[in-house]
Amino acid sequence: MDIKITDVSIKLLDKLCEIEKQCFKQEAFTKQQLTYLLTDYNVIRLAALVNGEIAGFAIARVDIRRNDQFGHIVTVDVTPAYRRKGIAQKLLREIETILRESGIIECRLEVRENNIAALNLYQKLGYKKVGKLEKYYGTAHGLYLTKTLQ
Ligand SMILES: CC(C)(COP(=O)(O)OP(=O)(O)OC[C@H]1O[C@@H](n2cnc3c(N)ncnc32)[C@H](O)[C@@H]1OP(=O)(O)O)[C@@H](O)C(=O)NCCC(=O)NCCS
Repeated sequence: MDIKITDVSIKLLDKLCEIEKQCFKQEAFTKQQLTYLLTDYNVIRLAALVNGEIAGFAIARVDIRRNDQFGHIVTVDVTPAYRRKGIAQKLLREIETILRESGIIECRLEVRENNIAALNLYQKLGYKKVGKLEKYYGTAHGLYLTKTLQ
């Protein structure tokens, strides 16, 4: 399967909203939140194309705290029909490359404690659990993961 990674433009907003709803149901980012993420200059957004169709996308932010800069994975979404084909891994590796090329050496993220697919994905890519986030998602707990980008 040929997976092509490409930049995302605001023109894809409706399609990305549709995928986001498929992936996260009532917890999906709203159209307004996605608009912000697709236009903010500090955000990296990539889509995965399979036969010209968007099979998934990933969004990361560059966070700046005092003198420290780090990458922050905001979301990774793969449409159900294209899951388990390496698309999320490819999107995340590309984001990490872009971060590294900008001189950023750490990437962080939060994930629901019971999201086994995502946890396995992140751990496979080398992210390590560094903390628990009590009731981070309403009543559900989150985990805080980080990776040193080499
Ligand atoms: C999590 C998600 C992004 C994974 O996307 P994907 O393209 O299917 O993932 P990949 O094919 O790159 O899988 C990489 C690894 O992740 C793990 N993984 C992925 N899906 C899994 C599942 N359903 N169960 C267990 N492990 C899983 C595996 O270790 C897998 O490697 P393997 O296939 O060699 O065993 C996708 O299931 C999804 O969009 N889920 C809904 C949205 C979400 O939860 N996003 C992440 C939180 S922000």
